[in-house]
Amino acid sequence: MRILITGANGFIGKNLLEVLKTKKEYEIIAISSKDYNLLEQNQVRKLFKDYSPDAIFHLAAKVGGILANKTYPADFIYTNLALNTYFLEEARKANIKRLVYSFCGCSYPKNAPNPIKEEYLFTGLPDENAMFYSIAKATNYLQLLAYRKQYALDWVAAVPGNTYGPYDNFSDKASHVIPALIRRFHFAKENNAKEVVVWGSGLPVRDFIYVQDVAKALVLVLEKYHSDSPINISSGKGISIKELVQIIKEVVGFEGEIVWDKTKPDGHAVKIFDVTKMKTELGFEPQTDLKDGIRKTYKWFKENKEAIKD
Ligand SMILES: NC(=O)c1ccc[n+]([C@@H]2O[C@H](COP(=O)([O-])OP(=O)(O)OC[C@H]3O[C@@H](n4cnc5c(N)ncnc54)[C@H](OP(=O)(O)O)[C@@H]3O)[C@@H](O)[C@H]2O)c1
Repeated sequence: MRILITGANGFIGKNLLEVLKTKKEYEIIAISSKDYNLLEQNQVRKLFKDYSPDAIFHLAAKVGGILANKTYPADFIYTNLALNTYFLEEARKANIKRLVYSFCGCSYPKNAPNPIKEEYLFTGLPDENAMFYSIAKATNYLQLLAYRKQYALDWVAAVPGNTYGPYDNFSDKASHVIPALIRRFHFAKENNAKEVVVWGSGLPVRDFIYVQDVAKALVLVLEKYHSDSPINISSGKGISIKELVQIIKEVVGFEGEIVWDKTKPDGHAVKIFDVTKMKTELGFEPQTDLKDGIRKTYKWFKENKEAIKD
C-alpha cells in the first residue's frame, strides 16, 4: 500500500515516519511544504498527479501554543481552512478512498464534562485562548465529514491529546507546555538561576500522551478504524500542572525555586480525554508513562538544542 504523509517534516510526522519504517508492507511518500505548498491548489493537484497514493495521513496544518494563537489568529484560521479546502477537494478528485486526518482536542467545548467523549464535539465553544485554530480544525473535520457522506469515502479523524516528545517545537514563542517547561528549566539550570517562573496557579489538570504512542495509534486508525465519529488518542489520565512541573524540574535537575505567576491564565480546570473507543476499536493502550516520556524528550532536547529555533 502506498501512503502519502502531509506535514511529514513536522513533530507528529517525523515520529510517524519512524514507526512506519518498521512496517515493510507500506511504501511511504513523505512531503513537506518545500516539496508542495498545500496553500496553492495547483501544487496540490500536481502532488496527486505525481503520486497516486492508496491512503493518506493528512498532518499538514498551522500549529502553535497559546502565545502564537493569540498573536496570529488570522494566520491560524486562514492556513488551516485554505489548506484543507484545497487538499480534500483534490484528494476527492484523485479518488483517494482512505484518509486519516489529525484533528485536535482543543476543538472540544471549553466546558465539556470529563472525561471528554467524542460525542461532546459541537456541544459548545472551545477555549478562547486558541479559539480560531480550534474552530478551523473543527471545520476541517466537518469538511472531511461532508466528503465522506457525499462521495462515500472512508475518511476518518483521529484526535491526539496533548502530545509531547522528540521533534516537538521547543521555540520560545510557539511551544506547548511540556517543551516550554523543559527549555525553561534547562536554561535556568545552565545559567544557575535561582528561580523559574511558571504561568498560572499549577492547579489545572491535563492529559498528556507521548508522541510515539500517538504515531503507533495513528497507524492502527488507518488499519482498523472506519467510523464517522472522531476517535480520541490519549492517555486518559490526568496530572496537575504542579505535578508535571515537579517531574520536569527533577528530570532536568534544576535545584532552584518555582514561582507561580498567578496573573497568567490557567485555561480549563480539568481536561482529560475518554479513551474507551481507542481501547475497544483499536485495542490500543499507550506504552510510555509520563516520567519516562519526559526523560526521553529531555535527552532528545539536549542532543538537538543547537538546531532549535528561538
Ligand atoms: N502537537 C500536538 O500536540 C497536536 C495535538 C493534536 C493534534 N495535532 C494535529 O496533528 C497535526 C500535526 O501536528 P504537529 O504537531 O506535527 O505540527 P507541526 O510540527 O507544526 O507540523 C505540521 C506540518 O504542516 C506542514 N505545513 C504547514 N503549512 C503547510 C503548507 N502550506 N504546505 C505544506 N505543508 C504545510 C509543515 O511543513 P514544513 O515543516 O515542511 O513547513 C509542518 O511540518 C496537525 O494537524 C495538528 O493540528 C497536533
